[in-house]
Amino acid sequence: MARRVLITGGTRGIGRVTALTFKNAGYKVAVTYAGNDEAAKKFEQESGIKAFKWDAGNFEACQAGVLEVEKHLGGNIEVLVNNAGITRDGMAHRMPVESWDAVIHTNLSSVFYMIRAVIEKMREAKWGRIISMSSVNAQGAMGQVNYSAAKAGIEGLTKTLALENARVGVTVNAVAPGYVNTEMVAAIPQDALDKIIAKVPAGRLGEAEDIARVILFLADDGAGFLTGAVVPVNGALRV
Ligand SMILES: NC(=O)c1ccc[n+]([C@@H]2O[C@H](COP(=O)([O-])OP(=O)(O)OC[C@H]3O[C@@H](n4cnc5c(N)ncnc54)[C@H](OP(=O)(O)O)[C@@H]3O)[C@@H](O)[C@H]2O)c1
Repeated sequence: MARRVLITGGTRGIGRVTALTFKNAGYKVAVTYAGNDEAAKKFEQESGIKAFKWDAGNFEACQAGVLEVEKHLGGNIEVLVNNAGITRDGMAHRMPVESWDAVIHTNLSSVFYMIRAVIEKMREAKWGRIISMSSVNAQGAMGQVNYSAAKAGIEGLTKTLALENARVGVTVNAVAPGYVNTEMVAAIPQDALDKIIAKVPAGRLGEAEDIARVILFLADDGAGFLTGAVVPVNGALRV
């Protein structure tokens, strides 16, 4: 039986390629997005995968949204990929509180909200896979106090949840990409981006496919003993 996977923020960037990768591997896939209807429509047309619109940083919306997705896919979510994320960069001493709140809600609270909506059923089924997107910048990055705090939070949450669920067949892991060629990175000014690429021993940005392959592997039946890990995929930017 094809397993059911839900990917948050799956209409663009890494999430989009991850959704296509899972579909090609035979999974039943649904994705979410926040507000870019045009990108979502384009994604649905090219992939045949349904995109559900809700704010992953809203607890009630996550609970209601997951029920809708379960109806659409014909059963409980077996693989959850917490991918939705934003940046609102700025130096901490000048950062508006709105930028802090937006990044913490969208990137970190959303992960708990989504997990809360699926994990009891995974535990009952004695099988589940939860994979969340961290970042190399969880380790600290100038101008990203909100983002690195959220991503470091995901890493701690992942380890605790792995401990709590190892006995019931639910694995919980994070993937920590380096800089990946998506719209999020296209927002970085070219001269700053050139400096970043110059520091990557692999000599290039990551591609979304580099990340999607790792997520697919973590979701596999054969990856059941791999839990509580933060998998770096960064071209040796940080070893
Ligand atoms: N790109 C990188 O270099 C890089 C590196 C390390 C980690 N990451 C992480 O990887 C993940 C994906 O990054 P990306 O570069 O692929 O991003 P992206 O191209 O900007 O796409 C972000 C996706 O998330 C959705 N989203 C944003 N806010 C949301 C919300 N509140 N609720 C639901 N969906 C929401 C967007 O929907 P809309 O289209 O509606 O806005 C979109 O589908 C993020 O968690 C990011 O932090 C990225």
